[in-house]
Amino acid sequence: MLIRPRRLRKSPVLREMVAETRLSKDMFIYPYFVVPGKNVVHGIDAMPGVSHFSVDTLLKDVEKSMKLGLNKVLLFGVGEEKTEDASSSFDKNSIVANAVRELKRAFADDLYVVTDVCTCAYTTHGHCGILQNDYVQNDKTVDVLAQMALVHAQAGADMVAPSDMMDGRILGIREKLDQNSMVNTAIMSYSIKFASAYYGPFREAADSAPGKGDRKAYQMDFRNPRETMRESALDEQEGADILMVKPALAYLDVIHRLKESTNLPVACYNVSGEYSMVKAAGANGWIDEQKVIMENMYAFSRAGANIIITYHAREILEKGWMD
Ligand code: PBG
Ligand code: ZN
Repeated sequence: MLIRPRRLRKSPVLREMVAETRLSKDMFIYPYFVVPGKNVVHGIDAMPGVSHFSVDTLLKDVEKSMKLGLNKVLLFGVGEEKTEDASSSFDKNSIVANAVRELKRAFADDLYVVTDVCTCAYTTHGHCGILQNDYVQNDKTVDVLAQMALVHAQAGADMVAPSDMMDGRILGIREKLDQNSMVNTAIMSYSIKFASAYYGPFREAADSAPGKGDRKAYQMDFRNPRETMRESALDEQEGADILMVKPALAYLDVIHRLKESTNLPVACYNVSGEYSMVKAAGANGWIDEQKVIMENMYAFSRAGANIIITYHAREILEKGWMD
């Protein structure tokens, strides 16, 4: 007798029943770039379909996202004053703090607000920390990040997401939040963040490219899967609530490894370069964009991600690709 696996692939109804991986809109976190000013909706060239918003237009756009079922956002601040010490990043009236306050005022607990915590958009040199002799100073940077996280938390952020890759920053942020009674502000750690060329379009969007050098002295070397386990274990010990892998598409093996090694929720960040490659090929008619996007989303879920941060989320829901 011939064993016939094709028997279970015969019809759509049957294929739905035996599907091993499922996607839900609840898995998505949608990123937003917030800029100073009023009435700004400015498209980002390198990321078709993604824009800069001022706080007023952000509120309107988030409302549209929420109608589609997107209820989690990740905020990036862009266009603040840049200094050596990143002081605009922890100003109580920073653009991100203001955006958080307004979003929580408008939507309260119907919207879950996550903020990116890093200095690169706020420093003259564009590095993810405080620079001395061309080297990012670890512990000084952690102090700044903790202050920034506290400002976001006090503005009402539900979760802070440090993306800098300093040692000990999860502990530094957790202690700072706890000392200030923000015990319920969660931390999603960009735990396994690689030094990657896939961040290119984002750096244009956030105006955050390093002026000199690269980020290899703090972000991870993509040749080192075992080291990723060390980094994520440390973040877990330091009190992270969610661990993230970034980028996602080129690192499905790492997502899988992390899922096997932790009991925390696992997130992945489908980054700007991964997004823009698909959009560009789609625009040229070289791929079926919808099908490729959904194939990628299932790949993240199959690899073990419970949470997917993606610029595609809005379009997927707008066009009903998951219905
Ligand atoms: C800043 C930060 C980056 C991204 C998220 N936070 C860029 C970088 O580290 O240079 C990348 C996001 C994306 O490419 O979509 N630390
Ligand atoms: Zn940074």
